[in-house]
Amino acid sequence: MKEHLRCIECGAKYDINEVRYSCDCTGLLAVERPLEVLESLGPEVFDSRLGSRNAADRSGVWRFREAVNNLDEGNIVTLPEGLTNLYSRSNLSKWVDCDQLAFKHEGENPSGSFKDRGMTVAVSQAKRLGKKIYACASTGNTSASLALYAALNGGQALVFIPSGKISLGKLSQALAYGATCISITGDFDKSMQLVKQAAEELGIYLVNSLNPFRVEGQKTIIWDILQQLKWQAPDWIITPAGNLGNTSAFGKAIEEAVAAKWITKKPKIAAIQASGANPFATSFKHNFESLEPVTANTVASAIQIGNPVNFPKAKRTITQTNGLVEQVTDKEILEAKYMLDKNAIGCEPASACSLAGLKKLRQNNTIKKTDSVVCILTGHILKDTETTLNSLKDSSYNEIVESDGSIDSISKLLK
Ligand code: F0G
Repeated sequence: MKEHLRCIECGAKYDINEVRYSCDCTGLLAVERPLEVLESLGPEVFDSRLGSRNAADRSGVWRFREAVNNLDEGNIVTLPEGLTNLYSRSNLSKWVDCDQLAFKHEGENPSGSFKDRGMTVAVSQAKRLGKKIYACASTGNTSASLALYAALNGGQALVFIPSGKISLGKLSQALAYGATCISITGDFDKSMQLVKQAAEELGIYLVNSLNPFRVEGQKTIIWDILQQLKWQAPDWIITPAGNLGNTSAFGKAIEEAVAAKWITKKPKIAAIQASGANPFATSFKHNFESLEPVTANTVASAIQIGNPVNFPKAKRTITQTNGLVEQVTDKEILEAKYMLDKNAIGCEPASACSLAGLKKLRQNNTIKKTDSVVCILTGHILKDTETTLNSLKDSSYNEIVESDGSIDSISKLLK
């Protein structure tokens, strides 16, 4: 067997097809594969798949399949996902005073968020294992994504959501795709605890980012960016951070790409939290000595998480890439979202953390004007319409104009 699961704390090794989400020592597990496998791949192989009509080649996840999860094609459950664009906007470059700035819009995935990249891999692994009941705790996007892939594979999704704390758009997606939605009294962190227990005691397949296959899929955000940039790594990649699945995946993607010589320079990762949900940012300030959970409260409901389960992996990413963790206020998040929306990109509130973080890091000159930067946008503008409308109303940026239905009233508007 070429691939296996490896504990990131004690190094214990487990069979790749064992259903487990942590080591006997409680450490997190990661998929490990021999360097020769990665070295046999690279820009030429991946570039040759662009433009192919094969379903796996067309997916921005499965294009990298041998380095993600080496499954028989019959087990691959794909829509396809990962066909997301890189945008640049001169107005936004000017706003943050950054010459080389691009936005990777992961909201263009099939269910409207980056979660599809991890979910296609986790549900495909479930298919390989013959598992048909899947579960996750979620602030909304993971549940929508799981519900979609469960429907595609003919399985049952159970989603554990914190009562009253997820946007209606995300909830309606999960319900519409046929998931069983369980509303938990308490927050995301409580839902996470409960779903872990349910997975252990009831044998349901857990697809939160604790599942190492989710992380394998999310690595492709980085590889996709590198491919779009002709394999020239940017100086910085900036990402919103909540449960820290993406931050973890990004470090692994970069380490593997450098080890296999697909790229020579390591981009630095900047993880951005909301100041009301900032345990990772606080821990960074104290040299990652510990992680103190908080009771989270932020307008960016997707990242309202106080006790991120992937902390040990995410910490490595920041250390290994010489990156950093920063925090931004709700006001800064909404201001950045307003700028992204108005400049014809658009995203949900949590996504705007990356641009808000960049603005702060440019103001204190941690990131230089001439550095090349890619900001990740994690979710679609339609994911949280309540917050968009409320923030526009509160700030009087843009309001609905009433008309009595006469042409006169419209003509007055033009004046
Ligand atoms: N942005 C969006 C739009 C998200 O939905 C999430 C996480 C994040 C950022 C943070 O990513 O957890 O990898 O650090 N949403 C999860 C969910 C928790 O349940 O949908 P992370």
